[in-house]
Amino acid sequence: MADIRQATIFDIPAIQACDLLCFPEEEPWDCYLYEEYIVFWPRLVYVAEDHGTGCIVGFVFAEMEGEGTETHGYIANLGVLPTHRKSGIAKKLMDAAQNALVQEYGSEYVSLHVRKSNQAAINLYSEKLGYNYESAANFYENGEDAYVMQKQLQEKQTDILGTHSTDGGDPHKIFCC
Ligand SMILES: CC(C)(COP(=O)(O)OP(=O)(O)OC[C@H]1O[C@@H](n2cnc3c(N)ncnc32)[C@H](O)[C@@H]1OP(=O)(O)O)[C@@H](O)C(=O)NCCC(=O)NCCS
Repeated sequence: MADIRQATIFDIPAIQACDLLCFPEEEPWDCYLYEEYIVFWPRLVYVAEDHGTGCIVGFVFAEMEGEGTETHGYIANLGVLPTHRKSGIAKKLMDAAQNALVQEYGSEYVSLHVRKSNQAAINLYSEKLGYNYESAANFYENGEDAYVMQKQLQEKQTDILGTHSTDGGDPHKIFCC
């Protein structure tokens, strides 16, 4: 069992250790990048803390992308330690981030990139969390393609002229989930 709570900058070493174990074949994020998210998006970064040991066993980093009214949520990083998988922790982390995207930023939808080979994550997003496939993109440095997946979080916001705000452009290319 694990508790979900907002991350603080004091969690960064533990998050980085967790990230390394979650993505052993990838370059971990630079410490400054974790810090940037926690400072700029404090309500959009969550960790899962093991009940027994108090250790961090999972994390999610989200952000708002785009400018002005054309913004939407984006999941930049998600991981759960191999020892703690398949017990619902990723779903809880994603629920926390998605709720905060709506409540704090009024995000209409959230998107993410996932490797086409990452069946566990694809199942999580599509079957458990209701994400739809939007497109495929050449996204990862090793040339592997990604699916762009998206989930509507709330009804479109209509402004006083009756127009709808729309997608705010390409998601970050340097981060990967
Ligand atoms: C993907 C990942 C975050 C899932 O974490 P988790 O805590 O095990 O996920 P949950 O327990 O919340 O699982 C929810 C659903 O995800 C899917 N899922 C999770 N692990 C799976 C697996 N090994 N095989 C197939 N489906 C899987 C299932 O649909 C599952 O629902 P179920 O338990 O009812 O079958 C975890 O495997 C991980 O950290 N992987 C490495 C990093 C990574 O790939 N991050 C995502 C990058 S986009």
